Amino acid sequence: SRDDLDDIHKFAVQLGKYAGQMLMQAARLRTGDTAAPQQQQQEHVQKANAVDLVTETDENIEAYIKSQITSKYPAHNFVGEESYSKGSSREYLIDDAPTWCIDPLDGTVNYIHLFPMYCVSIAFIYKSKPVVGVINAPFLNQFFSSCAGRGAFLNETQPLPLIRNPVPPMPAKAPSGCVFSCEWGKDRKDIPDGNLHRKVESFVNMAAEIGGRDGKGGMVHGVRSLGSATLDLAYVAMGSFDIWWEAGCWEWDVAAGIAILQEAGGLVTTANPPENIETSPIDEVRLGSRLYLAIRPAGESKDETGRQGQ
Ligand code: IPD
Repeated sequence: SRDDLDDIHKFAVQLGKYAGQMLMQAARLRTGDTAAPQQQQQEHVQKANAVDLVTETDENIEAYIKSQITSKYPAHNFVGEESYSKGSSREYLIDDAPTWCIDPLDGTVNYIHLFPMYCVSIAFIYKSKPVVGVINAPFLNQFFSSCAGRGAFLNETQPLPLIRNPVPPMPAKAPSGCVFSCEWGKDRKDIPDGNLHRKVESFVNMAAEIGGRDGKGGMVHGVRSLGSATLDLAYVAMGSFDIWWEAGCWEWDVAAGIAILQEAGGLVTTANPPENIETSPIDEVRLGSRLYLAIRPAGESKDETGRQGQ
């Protein structure tokens, strides 16, 4: 019911706040920015390959969130990145049952390298749709949250999107003045036509070619790769990024961001840029697709920088 969902949202917000503090504390211990006596460089271990990493922080935060959820909502399913990596018996990660989908530390490589683009990500999914999202990036002082039908917010008070542009950047006409974001992911098989090869090509196309195709000599303002799919989606919801895509992410990388972006009025679908997004219909997003394309919300007025919707 509505009340249940509002309660779930409140609970997720509290969880996100506490987990963010855990993340902040762990990072401060690592950098020595604390009075705590033991300052240790945190070890990381490999999972599937040399860029698929986990730290003690990922595991501690997931264990905390899981224990809180299973004691408050014992009937709900739980899908967490680290629990899954340790061998989940579930074949279908998300089904119609009420499910919590967690990434305790999205942007693990950033965390290990002291690049502040990392966050805790908590989603509640009902009937296979992400309906509550909480993303806490404590070192950026950014806390994103949403509840279906109640809006999406930055730091609980600022409605998203923050940056408004009247025309949605539909891929066919988007390029001039847009900022694209895409991730390298973890699949680095560098064979001809392999994943990495296609990604590099897409990055180059986005930065150069597409800008020329609008017939006005417009150029893409920038191409970014943050290292956190969750934050990418949050920045599309803010309106800072116009388009984001990644091939190869998991449900926990995107569920909270999808909830927030959809509630902010943005679109998320599955498509392959840049070659065929122009002709792809904007399907309803299916969790589990591994490949996602997100488009920022359209606003009512031009933003202050004078960026034009195309
Ligand atoms: C990863 C990050 C990265 C994306 C990968 C994700 P993790 O999540 O979101 O940006 O490219 O696909 O798996 O491992 O840092 O939680």
